[in-house]
Formats: sequence, C-alpha cells, structure tokens
Amino acid sequence: MNYKNTTHFDLRPDQLNEEQAAIELEELAKLIAYHDRLYEDAEPEIHDSEYDALRIRNDKIEKLFPHLVRPDSPSYKVGATPSGKFRKVKHKIPMLSLSNAFTYEDISNFFTSIRSFIIELNDPSIPIEIVAEPKIDGISCSLRYENQRLVLGATRGDGIEGDDVTNNVKTINDIPKQLPPFAPEILEIRGEVYMSDEDFLKFNKEQEEKGEKIFANPRNAAAGSLRQIDPEVTDSRPLSFFAYAWGDISEPIAKTQWEARDRIASWGFILSKPAKILNGLDEIKQFYEEIQSKRSGFGFSIDGVVYKINKIDLQGRLGFISRSPRWAIAHKLPPEKGQTRIKDIKIQVGRVGSLTPIAELEPINIGGVLVSRATLHNQDEIERKDFRKGDLVVVQRAGDVIPQVVSVIIKDRPLDSKPYQFPDKCTICQSATVREQHEAVRYCTGGLFCSAQAHERLKHFISRNAFDIEGLGGKIIEMFYNEGLVNVPFCRPC
Ligand code: IVH
Repeated sequence: MNYKNTTHFDLRPDQLNEEQAAIELEELAKLIAYHDRLYEDAEPEIHDSEYDALRIRNDKIEKLFPHLVRPDSPSYKVGATPSGKFRKVKHKIPMLSLSNAFTYEDISNFFTSIRSFIIELNDPSIPIEIVAEPKIDGISCSLRYENQRLVLGATRGDGIEGDDVTNNVKTINDIPKQLPPFAPEILEIRGEVYMSDEDFLKFNKEQEEKGEKIFANPRNAAAGSLRQIDPEVTDSRPLSFFAYAWGDISEPIAKTQWEARDRIASWGFILSKPAKILNGLDEIKQFYEEIQSKRSGFGFSIDGVVYKINKIDLQGRLGFISRSPRWAIAHKLPPEKGQTRIKDIKIQVGRVGSLTPIAELEPINIGGVLVSRATLHNQDEIERKDFRKGDLVVVQRAGDVIPQVVSVIIKDRPLDSKPYQFPDKCTICQSATVREQHEAVRYCTGGLFCSAQAHERLKHFISRNAFDIEGLGGKIIEMFYNEGLVNVPFCRPC
C-alpha cells in the first residue's frame, strides 16, 4: 500500500456525508493498521506527524459519526498485531498507549476533563499534582519477574498480545535479570528499549562499513535490534532501557507516582530523567520549555514530555478510555529545525538507479548534530517547493538521521537565482533517465554500466540481507571496486 496513492482527504471531517465518512473510516482503519505494522517492523514509510494526523482525522470523523465506528477501529487498538515471527504472549494487564497533546490548550483540556470526572476536584483552585518526565522514543517492552527472576520479556504488540522477546531482552545490560530479595514476588516492569545517540551513530557507521542496513533514526534501530530472531544479533547491538511504569504486581507499589519511581529505582532499574513534580499550567510550561531547550543534550531521543497524575488512587479512579489512560498524557515536542543555505544540489544514484536530489548545505547545528546534507526527496518535491541553489531554507531533523529541507525563505532568495533543472541524464554515467507515469522517482537506465549502481549493488550483494559475506564490508568492497579488482556481482547459476 502506498500512503501517497490513497484518499487525499480533501474534505474537512464536518463536510463529509454519511457515505463518505463510512468509506474514509474503512480506509483509515486499513491505512493506520498498515502503518502500525511498518512502525513495529522499524520500517516506517511516513513521518510520525503524518501518522498522528491520520489518527486525529479518524478520531474527528468518529466523533461526528459515532454510529459508524467500526469494530476494527484504530481507536480500539494500540499498535500492530504480533508479527508471527515470535511466540505470542498475552499481557496480564493490557499495555496501553498515551493520548497526545500538541498545545497548552490540549493540556488545559486534559485537566478540565480530570476535574469533571473526579467530584472533589471540580473546584479549579484545588491543585492537581503531576509527575513530568521525558517521553523516550524507543520501543515499549514489558518485563515479568517471578520470585525476583526475569521470566519474560514481551513487546507491546497490539496492547493485548505481544511478541515473546525474552532471550533478546536478557542481552540488554540495563535490564536486571535478578532483582534484590525485597522486590515483589510478582512484578511486571514496563519501559522503553532505546538506543542512545552516541551508540546509534557508532552502530550506523559500523553497519555502513559492513555494507549493511542503515537505520533512519535511533527508534528504528532499537526496534529492529530488539525484534531479531537470533538473540546473538540483539546482543551485538547497543541497546538500553528506561523503566516508566508497571503492570501485574503482587503488592501495591506506592501511594504516589513519585514514590513508585524511587521504588522501581531501588530494584535496580534506570528511570527516565529529568523528572519533576509540577503543579498547574505555569509550572508545566516552564518544564516543557526547559526540556525543549535541553533536548539535544540528553544523549537519547525524546519526542515529548509525559505528565502523570501523582496520586495512584486517583489514577485508579480515572481509569482508561479506549486505548489510553485518563490519568496521563504525552505532550509532543515539535521537530528540531534550523535555517541555512543550499550551497549546491547533487544527485545521488541508488542501487537500482533511483536518482535522489541531495542539498549540500552550509553546515548547521540542529539539536546537537552538525547537518551538512539533507534530502530534497525527488523531482516533484523540488518543483513544488521550488528549491534552488543559493536559497536560504528551513531544515528539519525529526528524529531522523537524514534531515529534510522543509521550505524556502523566499524573501532571502538571491536576485540571480534560477530554478533547478532536474538532470535528464545520469550525473554519474550520462545514461538516459526515465520516469514512469505516476512514479515520483526518476531512474538511471545505465544498469551495471553505471559505476554508482554497480558499486551500490556490490555493497548489497555482500550484505547480511543477501550473500552475507562475513569479513567483507562496504569499505573494502569499495576499495576493490576502485582498484578494478571486482566490478559486478555475479552468482553462477546453481
Ligand atoms: S507511561 C499506560 N512514560 O510512549 C501507558 N510512556 O505513546 C503508560 N513512553 O506506550 C505509559 N516514554 O511506550 C510512559 N516516560 C514515559 C514514556 C512512555 C515513552 C512510550 C510508551 C507508551 C508510548 C505512548
């Protein structure tokens, strides 16, 4: 399925008639399930903000047409159904998701709904204490301990059933295999498996050198690494773990979320930091802005701040609504952006000849990462946004390694600038290029005659996904190719 080829959702939800609403809800259910699966498999095709937009649209249509809510509605589901690669495990207590807030108004509405739900909090002058902590961008995982021994590690899956990844989680250093004797007899700790920024950069570099898959962001790398059939592969990946919640437990954990954090830490887990008890919207604003400004210095990717009602008895009374608790909310952070100039536009030729325009930029520091190249996606995107050499542009790093050029600041455009002409010949081998109708990508027709294609194919040929030639990595094959020692991948017919 291609997201770009599906309904364009031209009408506002309140402009839809019944028939259109039913068609869209069906389409959205399929589309969201499709993207859930890709997300779980660490191969997302769309950006998180585009995914959020699909869910928001689905929610709006469902609110306007409640009688059309489908049994397979995304509102009832948390993530993808288990993949089938692993043994399935049913969670004793469902692993839910969090509702998203994008503005302070959304946060204010969150408090209003809590006050209307709990009678003694109706009076707005009564304070509601919350615990705020960073929202880690990784993959959620539940760890079950029986008599203080780790007996099960499971992914969230669809929230009801997940994948059994016990042998894989056992390879993660931050995850205790044995708890101290004072830990509860039965204990499920929930948290996020993630890859730190430093580990991610190092890991991707090693992958590139070996000619193996490069991941777009630390989340995808963590998800791909955790869900390996062979635990030895997971063991070779630098994964970390932050605990943030609990599931099944044989005794009450604490009276407040804050005390629960301390108890979980006393059993040997690492919790997400910085965390703080806050009171009221002003303190929330201050904390959120502080997190936003310090975001690049944490050393791991975060995509928001989570606010949780501090009193655990209140959490219990508030309960859940469809897929998320009423007592917590995720306040999303905007993507990290910066402004710089396009020094040049170069074409990168891929393994099967796809031509990707790349902007070479005046280097700029975005969220702690020095960015000097960013993708311009394809010919249509360049034409639609009219990106030109010399333009001052907005560049975005939305958790992705490959930054994107988002828009042009037209008022700063040099007077002598000219529209970019997408080449009709391959910039490497001069062969003709083709672009099929309805396809966004242009291709070089040079095949193995094109040194870029030949080289990329050799890299793929030796990689883990193909012939898996141990000891022969991307750097070495590039050297062999440049020396003329090898030129084409060849497999003798067997
Ligand atoms: S609390 C009932 N705290 O974000 C759910 N979740 O988008 C309680 N996440 O499913 C979750 N950091 O995988 C919580 N500090 C944090 C978190 C966090 C990341 C993830 C978690 C959750 C997802 C929701």
